[in-house]
Amino acid sequence: MGPAAALALGYLLGAIPFGLLLGRMAGIGDIRQAGSGNIGATNVLRVGGKGLAAATLLLDAGKGAVAVLLGALILPESGALLGAAGAFFGHLYPVWLRFRGGKGVATLLGITLALYWPVGLIFAAVWLGALVLFRYSSVGGMAAAVSAPLAAAIFGRFELALLLIALALMVLWRHRANIERLLAGTEPRIGGARGG
Ligand code: G3P
Repeated sequence: MGPAAALALGYLLGAIPFGLLLGRMAGIGDIRQAGSGNIGATNVLRVGGKGLAAATLLLDAGKGAVAVLLGALILPESGALLGAAGAFFGHLYPVWLRFRGGKGVATLLGITLALYWPVGLIFAAVWLGALVLFRYSSVGGMAAAVSAPLAAAIFGRFELALLLIALALMVLWRHRANIERLLAGTEPRIGGARGG
């Protein structure tokens, strides 16, 4: 009961599509029909502006963190990791959106901060650093996702590193359209003419 409950609760939290909900509430319509079509904070920034994007980022990260904390309450041994996996999977494949969800970067930030905050801080620093350096949100997100298992391994958190390897691979997989655009030179930069 415990493991399934931690996983299911995490999934239900992760599956809340905050970008889509906030976009509708703010009157910008269906975020999936605009910009990159993604429900994440980057696309909300493009279409709805900074305030809405910040709220999406906070809520998407927050649901990941809450899933970890609730998982740990349900099952002190392994519940945190199960809650994290559930929330991440829920964000990427929400049942309410016919399993077409986001790319997982903001949710992974919340997950890493709640699971082991030093890894979360490194994740945030790599994300911001790459963003400032390259001005591609996708590059920042992918770099941060890849840095997380490396950081966990350096801190000797090998169980966490294994989970983060799987989640980083899923982040890369979900960014395949971005990778194609980066290679073709058509990926919009943050703050650029076609970016957010
Ligand atoms: O976190 C998503 C970001 O890395 C890319 O978003 O809208 O440019 O595909 P987007």
